[in-house]
Amino acid sequence: MQTDYSIYCEKLKKIADIQYSMALLSWDQEVYMPAKGAEFRAGQLSTLAGIAHEMSVDQELGSLLDRLLVDTSLSEKEKRNVKESHKNYHIQKKYSTDFVVALNKTISASYQAWHKARTENNFALFAPVLEKLIELKKQECEILGYEKHPYDAMLEQYEPGARVADLDVLFDQVKAKLVPFVKKIAMAKQNDSDFLFKHFEKNTQWDFGIFLLQQMQYDFEAGRQDISAHPFTTSFSPSDVRVTTRINEYDLREMIWGCIHEGGHALYEQGLDAADYGLPSAEAISLGIHESQSRLWENNVGRSLSYWKANYGKLQQAFPEQLKEVSLDRFYKAINLVEPSLIRTSADELTYHFHIMIRYEIEKELISGSLSVYDLPSYWNHKYKDYMNLDVPSDEQGVLQDIHWSHGSFGYFPTYSLGSFYAAQFFAKAKEQIKDLDLQLQMGELKSLLLWLRENIHQYGKFYQASELCEKICGTKIDFEYFFNYVENKYKQIYEYADNE
Ligand code: CO
Repeated sequence: MQTDYSIYCEKLKKIADIQYSMALLSWDQEVYMPAKGAEFRAGQLSTLAGIAHEMSVDQELGSLLDRLLVDTSLSEKEKRNVKESHKNYHIQKKYSTDFVVALNKTISASYQAWHKARTENNFALFAPVLEKLIELKKQECEILGYEKHPYDAMLEQYEPGARVADLDVLFDQVKAKLVPFVKKIAMAKQNDSDFLFKHFEKNTQWDFGIFLLQQMQYDFEAGRQDISAHPFTTSFSPSDVRVTTRINEYDLREMIWGCIHEGGHALYEQGLDAADYGLPSAEAISLGIHESQSRLWENNVGRSLSYWKANYGKLQQAFPEQLKEVSLDRFYKAINLVEPSLIRTSADELTYHFHIMIRYEIEKELISGSLSVYDLPSYWNHKYKDYMNLDVPSDEQGVLQDIHWSHGSFGYFPTYSLGSFYAAQFFAKAKEQIKDLDLQLQMGELKSLLLWLRENIHQYGKFYQASELCEKICGTKIDFEYFFNYVENKYKQIYEYADNE
């Protein structure tokens, strides 16, 4: 017999079919599509997006969700699914067609303007359309609603439950603790890393990347790796989760930590409950939690000494010419170099958060209206001087470097920092609960760590909100202290800095 709940599941699975088909077309676009395919592909994707949108604001689905919301016979998980879908339904309903059309048009113009502005290193080409886009984003905050800060409405789209008030506390600590910590490191004896930039042949790198993914237990029967311009992970179901990587023959770091990072994202997606395909209980919680998975593997595991005790011998075997004279200790220090730099995507795991803090502070001001788009470049440069003591030589290496704003993705950047902070907190807990985890890492045994993540995080999908999940696992909400303890312990061994202030 068909119940309201089973009809609801069927409807959601159909919507998911459309959305995952779009994901497949987008994956192909980045990996295989010939240049001439772009125009029709854009049309195909937009048609499918329209169909998915119609299905998700369908009147019948709305009344079904209203009935289910008061259905007391549902299990706890079913209730959570319904609550989440009901919330999403009403968010979708808030947008008028006119607004969506205007926003999409402006985003597409803004992306083109940004691309041109960056290529020509000319911010003025981007400013007018960015100003228009920000006006629309401010309207969007009003459409979606918020309690305290309009930027809360932006955050909610990527990190449900996150608020300016909480992020301010976190970034105040970044400012109070991490900024002086990095200054202390800068004054210590510096380590060398030249050997990471020798020539590393492409195919050998590729094979080593595949080995690392296999070691992490990434399931190649439920995924594959390809090459793309920018590494990413995409999912068509928990049984087909794809990763891509990029190989730089003169910078070994890109492929290795790119693979581990995307592998971490992919393990999360492969660990979601396939039986609940299309339902919130088989979806990732938030971008911050997603990023916690990639960064836990990339940094807490993949940049640890224990992990390289297991793997450095194999890397040396793969590249004997380049690495035979380099000790594990030198290698470990080189892969953990800390140095303020201009470009976010190539920043180390400490100064990375300064890049995010700057963007977060700027976004809040753009959305609240206290900063004009035309003052953006000088404001940006001032902040880079302030936090990292860097002079920004050009807007191309400054305010024009990221794609996010041109896409209208305001509120996205903070999830990167949240990811690292959650990762440190989860990893501390995993270490506490898996007694010999460190020993396992030293032997290249990563299975029980994955199992821990599956049990504590992956299996639940969206059953919990990020903060609820964190409290459930760690007994406390997100706390910068975990991240700071992790970096303090790690970097005092890497840099022999003076401990007196
Ligand atoms: Co990521």
